[in-house]
Amino acid sequence: MCTLIQKYNVPGPRYTSYPTVPYWNKETFSGNKWKATLKRSFIESNAAEGISLYIHLPYCESMCTFCGCHKRITKRHDVEQPYINSVLKEWKLYCELFGEKPIIKELHLGGGTPTFFSADNLKFLINGIFRSAEKAIDYEFSFEGHPNNTTREHLQALYDVGFRRVSYGVQDYNSTVQRAIHRIQSFENVKAVTEIAREIGYTSVGHDLIFGLPYQNIDHVKTTILKTKELMPDRLAFYSYAHVPWLKGNGQRGYDEADLPSGDEKRNQYETGKKLLAEVGYHEIGMDHFALKGDGLYSSMDSGNLHRNFMGYTASKTQVMVGLGASSISDSWYSFAQNVKSIEEYKHLVENNIIPIYRGHILSEEDQKVRRHILNLMCQFETNWEDLRNRIVDIESVKGRLIEFEEDELLELSDTGIKVNDKGHPFIRNICMAFDVHLHQKQPETRLFSMTV
Ligand SMILES: C[S@@+](CC[C@H](N)C(=O)[O-])C[C@H]1O[C@@H](n2cnc3c(N)ncnc32)[C@H](O)[C@@H]1O
Ligand code: SF4
Repeated sequence: MCTLIQKYNVPGPRYTSYPTVPYWNKETFSGNKWKATLKRSFIESNAAEGISLYIHLPYCESMCTFCGCHKRITKRHDVEQPYINSVLKEWKLYCELFGEKPIIKELHLGGGTPTFFSADNLKFLINGIFRSAEKAIDYEFSFEGHPNNTTREHLQALYDVGFRRVSYGVQDYNSTVQRAIHRIQSFENVKAVTEIAREIGYTSVGHDLIFGLPYQNIDHVKTTILKTKELMPDRLAFYSYAHVPWLKGNGQRGYDEADLPSGDEKRNQYETGKKLLAEVGYHEIGMDHFALKGDGLYSSMDSGNLHRNFMGYTASKTQVMVGLGASSISDSWYSFAQNVKSIEEYKHLVENNIIPIYRGHILSEEDQKVRRHILNLMCQFETNWEDLRNRIVDIESVKGRLIEFEEDELLELSDTGIKVNDKGHPFIRNICMAFDVHLHQKQPETRLFSMTV
């Protein structure tokens, strides 16, 4: 395994989109094309399956130095109301474009820290969204909560407006690791917010864990998982720490590369963690996610409905995902668009009735085919091109690139498809890269992606 890790541990995308953001074509993209493709997709799919809505709430009270999310650190809570007003204004612009009432199937509040906002303000936001939208019958609303500032009021207020799923950032319980990542948080806090959520009636509580953090070792990973076992969250993310200090606004400079576990150690942490999670009763769902049998993510994987988008893995698929808030990314299946990252610019554009996107990509038919293969691999660990409509022009080159993985016994390759085996699961990003036509046409000039393993 170790030599495979050395071989395949290269910078690579996490494929929350295809084409990946650095390969978006700015020349062929325009705001008008984005609106036209979004409207077309909305009309095709709203009545049948509804849409997904992601709302980015970017504020946090303090900076965790490992964090790669788009956030603004402040202790001033007077930023809440103006930001929410801008999000509601942005939503109004989309509703005017759609022309008919959106039916919301999935709604996710992410960040930053959604629980930075008061319970009342979050309720005001959600009620504002539903003044011009309807809930789908089987709607699923979720939010990310910080264990240190999620209160009973937050959980109750969001439950009252339809939320049944919450995920908490836990990362690791060891105090040396917590000090290094500037995130001191006790097991007692996590236990309290997990139990309150269950008491109120949340049906899925998730914890985010990370391996590969500064100073983290195998024992820390084991201890964190054994503590997690005491609470048995319904689902778990077990993320590989993405070290991307070159990204703007990133605080990943409070420790040295030398403080990070080596590639082999990191993979060992993953393998050990994964084994322990299986013993405890968790099932692996796609890449870096685990769930108990009773959780919706497990049943959706079981029934082949698992989906992946900018929100990560989701239990159901909608063709349209609208991302509101600074830096959010929207997806119409035929196109992607990203909002400006600066909160000030975001507010200014929205105030002037402009949908605040600044870049995007219109997918060609070929892009859509590759995208489907990458989604299949990420969600089902297999894909095929038996149907000519799935056959990408460059399939022979893709097959050529897959032979190496077959020789390393990571997958079975036939004339019409591939099936990744258990040994290949940790290398799924590398296998997807074999399909990434853009990546192979033009290697990035600068370092853009985290390491795959
Ligand atoms: C927006 S945060 C969660 C909500 C809240 N802000 C908190 O910290 O509890 C989303 C999650 O992304 C993960 N994450 C952030 N930066 C990461 C990185 N560099 N590598 C891997 N996972 C990361 C963490 O597990 C984190 O809990
Ligand atoms: S991990 Fe969460 S709380 Fe910490 S900086 Fe990132 S978004 Fe904010």
